[in-house]
Amino acid sequence: MKLLLASLLATTVSGFNPAFIPSHGPSGVATSSSTSTSLNAVYGKPRPVQIIPSVLPADFGKLGADCKKLEDAGCDRIQFDVMDGNFVPNLTFGPDTIKWCRGYTSLPFETQLMVSEKCTDAMLPQFTEVTKGPNGEPGVVIIHVEACTHLHRALSNIRAAGGSPSVALNPHTPAEMIENVLDLVDHVLVMTVNPGFGGQAYIPTMTEKIRKIRKWIVDRDLDVDIEVDGGIKATKETIGACAEAGANCFIAGSGLFAYDDMAQGVKELTQMALEGQGVSVKA
Ligand code: DX5
Repeated sequence: MKLLLASLLATTVSGFNPAFIPSHGPSGVATSSSTSTSLNAVYGKPRPVQIIPSVLPADFGKLGADCKKLEDAGCDRIQFDVMDGNFVPNLTFGPDTIKWCRGYTSLPFETQLMVSEKCTDAMLPQFTEVTKGPNGEPGVVIIHVEACTHLHRALSNIRAAGGSPSVALNPHTPAEMIENVLDLVDHVLVMTVNPGFGGQAYIPTMTEKIRKIRKWIVDRDLDVDIEVDGGIKATKETIGACAEAGANCFIAGSGLFAYDDMAQGVKELTQMALEGQGVSVKA
């Protein structure tokens, strides 16, 4: 339902037609029926805003229950940060942990593979399988361009195995590294911190990388979401700037788990993202 409202909102903003502007954006955030786009509105038609928690700050002793809490808070998808202590200097969990969490929530999943090439080659089918939805819907499987020599093949294999392929870029990696696989993916993940830990500060120089990728996607008429991850908070400088530059999927770890009432967190993050997209939100 939330996604339908958001996509209705997204499709009408730039093709402005007041008749279709619902009085509510995603997560119950009220938008003004006389919506006007701000001067620095997003390039092209805004895509639906999605708030996606990273489980890294969750209590790993009761990860399934925490996933249910995130669903009840109105999140759109859940990100599982798979770290192998090799590609990043931290270690989390494998496919079985994700599989067990499926029993607690029907929310879509995404798996970010911060692992070495050896692990990707050996375990990609397993990760694609456990990331799927409760009825086998494609789950988002994210491969880092820095960890995959045969990226075109790996992304094609995710699609062939019934998953939704996505590619991630570390902060130092130029956008051009994914230009030739944009037609293969449903999402691009722009890391806005160096991967491996939560609670780090947003890197502002990533905003222009988002803007560049957004222009490629719009100009090539591709159906691709831009996701950002790292240091995302309900502020103009982070989620607002990313939304204005063209991102629509927002990973929030510490920025969401800091809220006692996570539903309020989802609402505030969504509100700031919509404002960044140029949608004026009713106070
Ligand atoms: C870091 C992870 C992020 C992290 C985000 O490598 O990929 O998802 O958990 O945490 P915050 O939002 O606290 O920066």
